[in-house]
Amino acid sequence: MSSDTLTVVDNRTGIEYSLPIENGTVRATDLRRIKTSPDDFGLMSYDPGFANTASCRSEITYIDGDKGILRYRGYPIEQLAESSTYLETAYLIVNGSLPTKLELDEWTHNITIHTMVHENVKKFVEGFRYDAHPMGILVGTVGALSTFYPDAKKVLDPSSTELQTFRAIAKMPTIAAFAYRHSLGLPYIHPDNDLSYVGNFLNMLFHPLADSAYRPDPVIEKALDVLFILHAEHEQNCSSTAMRVVGSSQADPYSALASACAALYGPLHGGANEAVVRMLTKIGSKDKVPEAIEAVKRGEGRLMGFGHRVYKNYDPRAAVIKKLADEVFDAVGRNPLLDIALELERIALEDDYFVERKLYPNVDFYSGIIYQAIGFPTDMFPVLFAIPRTVGWMAQWREMMADPEQRIARPTQVYLGEPQRDYTPIEARG
Ligand code: CMC
Repeated sequence: MSSDTLTVVDNRTGIEYSLPIENGTVRATDLRRIKTSPDDFGLMSYDPGFANTASCRSEITYIDGDKGILRYRGYPIEQLAESSTYLETAYLIVNGSLPTKLELDEWTHNITIHTMVHENVKKFVEGFRYDAHPMGILVGTVGALSTFYPDAKKVLDPSSTELQTFRAIAKMPTIAAFAYRHSLGLPYIHPDNDLSYVGNFLNMLFHPLADSAYRPDPVIEKALDVLFILHAEHEQNCSSTAMRVVGSSQADPYSALASACAALYGPLHGGANEAVVRMLTKIGSKDKVPEAIEAVKRGEGRLMGFGHRVYKNYDPRAAVIKKLADEVFDAVGRNPLLDIALELERIALEDDYFVERKLYPNVDFYSGIIYQAIGFPTDMFPVLFAIPRTVGWMAQWREMMADPEQRIARPTQVYLGEPQRDYTPIEARG
């Protein structure tokens, strides 16, 4: 018998089964062979929240949660944050290798020429209430892009797939900036293709119009570029899974992207950066931190920005962000919430409750404090996560579409409801 197998004895029947092991997995469908009788459906694995289920094979991102390792296409996140740029990293994530100078120029050009949106997209954004959450605007508007680009339905055509990738990466900052300016009642600023990807985004957000000499602060531009690298991709998280699940029905990529944005919006995922700043603001001062920690331990809410499904050691992205915070604060002034955050981290890392559960700061713990110092309103924070993550979503979607093993996503269930019963007319019901 091959050693790459798992031997299972079903104690209900005494029958022994041998299941092949490949890449550290057994196929869940192999469990279906394990039956108590020929008409038995067969054994299933039960895994709410997919805590131990690999839904795909992927070559994009590697994470070792115990060691705190994150690599895109084999490159450590720390090296990319230090030496790469967001658009170069985006090329790496989508195409699998670092670009040559020529490839990077072409990639940058292809994204830059797609930064404009159709005039009707502006009208669409204008239709939202003045106080609409920008993430809600993003979800709706990104979904609406499918109506502007019907060619996106050709999901099995590689040239269309590539074109939609350029469009998606290019248009997210434009839509996000329009959503921001809409909330302030300010006129929209069109993309400026002479600026960098991040510089153009900052310009569309913050250009004061009356000051034609305005240029984004290069320190902020660089910091946001690094933050974009850190947020670009994170394997099979909630939103990437949404992207793959919706994409598996062969829906167009903008519809799938809207679902990924919606998944990211939640406070347990990309909405956590917003929740952290609200939590720190509510705590108010350093001396109130022990009280806040005790409330969390009593089960009164979670410590936002702490904990991760995969990282059971420090989130490597949080480590880079913590360092970056100093550079940003030197340029724009220190955010007073930082002291509360540092105190919260210090106390939590010494507290048995957090130590036993391996709860460490995650990427969202410090990012919100930086965003706030730069001048972003709190409800823009999840949007600042969605823009760079678009690259990861598109890469995951393209990998799935090209994978012959992938089929429409359709999990099973354990039915625990009523057995068959007969319909009773309303007048006969108790
Ligand atoms: N504060 C207090 N307790 C926590 C926290 C927290 N932030 N996170 C987990 N726990 C406790 C939880 O109550 C449970 O305790 P017990 O075993 O006594 O019931 C234990 O730790 C395990 O928690 P879980 O909910 O089973 O863990 P999960 O893997 O399902 O959830 C998580 C992961 C990120 C959703 C969760 O840690 C959380 O809600 N964190 C706060 C929200 C947050 O910061 N999200 C951003 C994640 S990083 C960005 C991204 O990629 O989305």
